[in-house]
Amino acid sequence: MHERLSIRRFRECDMDAILRIEHASFRKDAYDRNLFADFHHKCGDLFLVAEGTERICGYMLTCTRSREGTQTAELVSVAVAPEARREGVASALMDSTLHRLRRRGAKRLSLTVKVTNRHAVAFYRKYGFVQIRVLPRYYEDGKDAWLMVRDLA
Ligand SMILES: CC(C)(COP(=O)(O)OP(=O)(O)OC[C@H]1O[C@@H](n2cnc3c(N)ncnc32)[C@H](O)[C@@H]1OP(=O)(O)O)[C@@H](O)C(=O)NCCC(=O)NCCS
Repeated sequence: MHERLSIRRFRECDMDAILRIEHASFRKDAYDRNLFADFHHKCGDLFLVAEGTERICGYMLTCTRSREGTQTAELVSVAVAPEARREGVASALMDSTLHRLRRRGAKRLSLTVKVTNRHAVAFYRKYGFVQIRVLPRYYEDGKDAWLMVRDLA
């Protein structure tokens, strides 16, 4: 586990650090400032950052929705700075997200991930997400996605 890591809500002053991590992680598919600002507005209390001793080293963004009285959530994105990977940063973000979702009474957390993104799929499987089905040509580059789901009960 990353030493002295704290998980807290995103603040506007974190934006540049998040954009650096985003670009290093997703290159041409990276979300831009406007999209993050939009998500902050819509899903702010589940837009979390991981802060190490010196800098922000990762983020996780989740949005909830309510339909017919049942609250569900979608994990929109997660990324960890390349130099901070495999130190438990994404795990700390996921633990905090799951805790916050349970506290709100959300029933289910879903996500989509490129079928070729082995590291992310391994991470989600470790957290009990199950591959439900393939979404063909889901991404702009024509790659397929896995729809993955985890119950929160
Ligand atoms: C996927 C990602 C968020 C994982 O972040 P991380 O902080 O390195 O993950 P953790 O250290 O918390 O790893 C937790 C578990 O995930 C799995 N995992 C993470 N990275 C892995 C890798 N490179 N290879 C295999 N398994 C991996 C392992 O099971 C690991 O547990 P272990 O270290 O005890 O074996 C990170 O690799 C990343 O930012 N990738 C680029 C962005 C991305 O693809 N995001 C997902 C988009 S859907």
